[in-house]
Amino acid sequence: MGRRLPLFLDVRGRRVVVVGAGAVAARRTARLRAAGAYVVVVAAVLREAVEADEVHERPFRPEDLDGAWLAFTATDDSEVNAAVAAAAGQRRIWCGRADDADASDAWLPAAADVDDIDVAVGAGGDPRRAVALRDAIARRLRDGSLHARRMRPSAGRVVLVGGGPGDPGLLTLRGYRELLAADVVVVDRLAPTALLDELGDDVGVGDVGQAPRGPAASQDSINALLVERATAGKTVVRLKGGDPFVLGRGSEEVAACLAAGVAVDVVPGVTSATAAATLAGVPLTERGTAQEFTVASGHVPPGDPRSTVDWHRLGASDATLVLLMAVANLRPIADALMTAGRDGATPAVVVVNASLPDQRIVRTALGSLADDAVRESVEPPAVVVIGSVAKN
Ligand SMILES: C[S@@+](CC[C@H](N)C(=O)[O-])C[C@H]1O[C@@H](n2cnc3c(N)ncnc32)[C@H](O)[C@@H]1O
Repeated sequence: MGRRLPLFLDVRGRRVVVVGAGAVAARRTARLRAAGAYVVVVAAVLREAVEADEVHERPFRPEDLDGAWLAFTATDDSEVNAAVAAAAGQRRIWCGRADDADASDAWLPAAADVDDIDVAVGAGGDPRRAVALRDAIARRLRDGSLHARRMRPSAGRVVLVGGGPGDPGLLTLRGYRELLAADVVVVDRLAPTALLDELGDDVGVGDVGQAPRGPAASQDSINALLVERATAGKTVVRLKGGDPFVLGRGSEEVAACLAAGVAVDVVPGVTSATAAATLAGVPLTERGTAQEFTVASGHVPPGDPRSTVDWHRLGASDATLVLLMAVANLRPIADALMTAGRDGATPAVVVVNASLPDQRIVRTALGSLADDAVRESVEPPAVVVIGSVAKN
């Protein structure tokens, strides 16, 4: 195959002529259109619905190739295909022949794009083998088992990756790929830290995770670290627990990056707010029982001037209530909800260390929630679900 030169072409806005209108021609035109080409189809008989900018239903004429950059012929008449190839050659236009790979001077590889990687495979004129190889490579790029870090010096950027509730299996594939491509990883305590073992020795890892109420890397110092590393040209992955935008201060980190002129992307994550309930077998909504759920932070108690949660409204509602960061304030929260009308017999479930090997589930009711949490030595991180859906 040494006589073939693999090449990527920018065909945007350029005239490409496809002769024929069967299944092969339809596939060619779809790919060419997806790449932005100006596609002209010439076919004596239109057998398939082809996507094109111009369709001429008549026999091919050599002048059809005037002004074209590229041609493909995919009729079932080899004389027509040969005539197209000859007319293309006279005009110095590359021509791919679907009927005769050896007589072609251009071949369309089996192709896929995964993030910024273009995969293009030719397999000695065997299209099925090429497709099988393309699929195998694309699958491995997508699942992260085949990867290479960017070597080209970049402008540096930050990617906020939602890591899910802690089990590495609950990180998204896109998040995993970003992690493997990182130069620097800045990680939270509740992120899937087990994955850090998979990073290369040269990847810098900054641990800014803190125990609740423990010594904290301040948000300002985290923001400054992200900006400083990205400005130095690094690809910085900010690996956070759950979803970056659910009670995670992710938007503040995005704002800090943008204010400093640093490019930033956000990869959504599986939030513990929903994952913990699901892992405990509690459906947050259930037909006939609950058609809505509310997620609220309990990091400050009802009545605290820093709280913007309307506990009265939540207590007066029958909707499923999901509480994060509430372990220290369970008693005042439960009291406020019952004062506002919630029945003390409403089922409640506490999920501790959801998705982790030491996951624990405490089943109780709103009226006994605070006492049971103390008796069961519930410690953060925990998600509390209150509502009829939490029944056994
Ligand atoms: C600062 S918030 C971050 C929430 C995160 N952004 C999310 O979407 O899951 C931390 C709280 O999330 C909850 N949490 C996070 N991971 C958890 C886990 N594995 N098990 C139980 N609760 C968890 C706890 O309520 C914890 O106090």
